[in-house]
Amino acid sequence: MTTDFAARRARIAPQLGLTDEILLVGAGHPIPKPEISDALLPFIAHQEYYYLTGLADGVGGLVAFDPQDGPQNGWTCFMPEVTEAERVWEGRTQLPGEPMGKFSAWLAARGGRPVVMFGAPVAGVAFDAARTAVVREAYKHARRVKELGEIDLMRRCAVATADGYAAVQPFLKPGVSERRMQVELEAGYFRAGAQKTGYDTIIGVGAQSAVLHGTPSRDRLAQEGDFILIDSGAEWDRYVIDVTRTYVAGQPSAFQRDLHQAVLHAERRAIARCRPGTEWVDVHFGAALDMVGALVDMGVMKGGAQSLVEQDAHLLFFPHGVGHMLGLGVRDAGGMEPGRTKSARPALATLRQDLILRPGYIVTVEPGLYFIPALLNDPARREKFRDCVDWALVDRHQQIGGVRLEDNILVTDGAPENLTAAIPHGI
Ligand code: GLY
Ligand code: MN
Ligand code: MN
Repeated sequence: MTTDFAARRARIAPQLGLTDEILLVGAGHPIPKPEISDALLPFIAHQEYYYLTGLADGVGGLVAFDPQDGPQNGWTCFMPEVTEAERVWEGRTQLPGEPMGKFSAWLAARGGRPVVMFGAPVAGVAFDAARTAVVREAYKHARRVKELGEIDLMRRCAVATADGYAAVQPFLKPGVSERRMQVELEAGYFRAGAQKTGYDTIIGVGAQSAVLHGTPSRDRLAQEGDFILIDSGAEWDRYVIDVTRTYVAGQPSAFQRDLHQAVLHAERRAIARCRPGTEWVDVHFGAALDMVGALVDMGVMKGGAQSLVEQDAHLLFFPHGVGHMLGLGVRDAGGMEPGRTKSARPALATLRQDLILRPGYIVTVEPGLYFIPALLNDPARREKFRDCVDWALVDRHQQIGGVRLEDNILVTDGAPENLTAAIPHGI
């Protein structure tokens, strides 16, 4: 399924709420590697530019929009001329668009009007930051419901990701390094046709499984009984999947099984709540309540689950939000429901979004329970939650690591669809 980007621009335009402003959206420029002056870091066209153009390689590209010229005719795509050096060294070819040299005349013809700037800011052009912040919220909201073509890309990406997770299964055992697991996992994505990983793969064995965004190491090998947490996904035409599974190298202990079961139960119930009209904060706090209830049953926490969550005690073991919008990048169009502002409550500050779910949204659902020494050994937390936790039991498990389970959910008119259900949940 191919995307008609001109049609997308025309659909988006009326939703931006522009009147006399003009809109500029820059793709950005590659950044030279600091140590090698003639080599560049990989170029990633800004998400806000890519959504309007589909030009992943549009280095230096610019989309300009004048609402007074109408939602279809108001858009102009400017593209720099490819230089001989770029053709020779990078193999770049000329992409479509008006020559960039015509942009200054386009801008001068609209002199004095406020400028809203998305994407990578255009050098030398002043813009209205306050107005930009308001219009950006409208743009994010307009992008939240996925088009069928976007969902199609996500499905392909999910298949490639499942291939990678299948490929790594024989390596989830004692004696294998995090790096080896990463290599086998990612090779599975690339064999299946994915172009990249959606983000830097996270793999942690043992205590490292509680490092939320840890980097796989050549030197850390799984030991018998270690948790192995893998958080990774493939990228397909700029669309990404974001899956987490937690396994055990060898035989799990009863405590590990209980922890895994607690997260799995919370995840299943959170996924079932992903229906139109549901407040995301309710999905989040539902998962927090379920997991705290399980920790009370396990003897780790003490008291009533509701009261513990109201005191924010869950943040000791579940210090992040239950998920985020996903698709065009691993953080896609999250943020606030129009008209809302961010809450100061610590338990809400960890949320990447405060939205009402609608059909066509794709979200991750990723509850987790972790034993993170940096949190659990903090004297202030120990004092505040002195009576909420069996600290002696916690201290016996300080090095156990953590469990996270993450799936990617399409909200529909009916039951939620789990795009990543084909990847077994482990243990
Ligand atoms: N893969 C990082 C995250 O789940 O947020
Ligand atoms: Mn993830
Ligand atoms: Mn995620």
